[in-house]
Amino acid sequence: MSVDDQAIEEQLREELAELSACDQLRQRSVIDGPDGRQISLCGGPNAGKRVKLLNWAGNDYQGLAQDRRVKNAAARAVRSYGAGAAASRLLSGGLRCHRRLEQRLAGWVGSDDCVVTTTGYQANLAVLAALASSTEDTVIVDRLAHASTYDGIRLSAASMLRFSHNNLQDLERKLRLAEASRRRIVCVESIYSMDGDEAPLREIADVCERHNAALVVDEDHALGVVGPCGAGLCAELGVRPTALVGTCSKGLGSQGGFVAGSAALVEQVVNRGRSFIFSTAPVPAAMGAAVAALDVLRREDDRPQQLQQRSQALRQALIAQGWQVAQGRSPIVPVLVGEAATALRLAQALRERGHYAPAIRPPTVPAHTARLRILPTMAHRDTDVRRLCEAMATLRQEFTA
Ligand SMILES: Cc1ncc(COP(=O)(O)O)c(C=O)c1O
Repeated sequence: MSVDDQAIEEQLREELAELSACDQLRQRSVIDGPDGRQISLCGGPNAGKRVKLLNWAGNDYQGLAQDRRVKNAAARAVRSYGAGAAASRLLSGGLRCHRRLEQRLAGWVGSDDCVVTTTGYQANLAVLAALASSTEDTVIVDRLAHASTYDGIRLSAASMLRFSHNNLQDLERKLRLAEASRRRIVCVESIYSMDGDEAPLREIADVCERHNAALVVDEDHALGVVGPCGAGLCAELGVRPTALVGTCSKGLGSQGGFVAGSAALVEQVVNRGRSFIFSTAPVPAAMGAAVAALDVLRREDDRPQQLQQRSQALRQALIAQGWQVAQGRSPIVPVLVGEAATALRLAQALRERGHYAPAIRPPTVPAHTARLRILPTMAHRDTDVRRLCEAMATLRQEFTA
């Protein structure tokens, strides 16, 4: 190691020590099966120990990542198209399986067209590159929007204004402030990833219409969860945003993001979305799996309702025990505990009782709102929820605020 390298290494270690001192150090977990519902931690913070835990930390809402039909479809896609796409869509990576999924997704969410990206993260970068392409544009974003939306704004040409979470008056104020912009683009999520609360989407769409603003809705946590056949909150409310952003990595149990909207919007993403243009197309397995997941959701259209019932049982039990849990119908059940250190302790105590629900800390969530984000899925059994409630009840006294 050269002297310079050693100095950098030392700096990096100091920065890591600072993160650790404020309970913000992250470590990769290493999980070895068996099935998503139960996981075996075999590395990372638990190095050396192999522990089987009930998993409450996945976003596989419908349990489709482990569904036999979905896994078989992924395998068939590999046999037909290969293990990788080998190039970006605009070179030789555009396979029939990509287009097939795009058409199915467009039909599902009720848009004219759709384009898939390799991740949902890239979908947010791409849509903002397409819509916010001039320095005369302003993006007006809900304060609690996902990091990928913020990164998309940073990479775009536009200025940014933030409005208070779900606050229509503040949104209108910011729209008036940006009146002179060439284009105003409002970015919201339909269900927020860390709180599980819903945006007042109908009202937001009306405000955007009154102010001639474009509306981008990230439906990542609503797909497979609400709406007809799990098609999301826009479909449920009959809202047609300028762009709907989604992912196949959560409610569809696969991988890959998408942007849906008018034909012109989609063409613009194809031509300006650098995260789409300069990245290898999604793997065929993910495309095949996502189409099969859509088939399951269409055939078994009561799945979103069943999921809501399961998460309501958990939510109400935790509220009755006295935990600080917000009402709502999303399966995201955030248990607020305040400080990061408390959240880490609670996560560890649960782990010792057989449950995996890692602490969610700043900067992922605002300061003093650290929490456990507990997420029951269709892969869980009712007895799993009961076991978790029993464990939480035993910890309530110790973690009284
Ligand atoms: C609201 C939201 N948008 C976008 C993303 C990124 O999606 P993906 O995991 O498919 O990259 C996430 C993922 O956590 C998310 O929660």
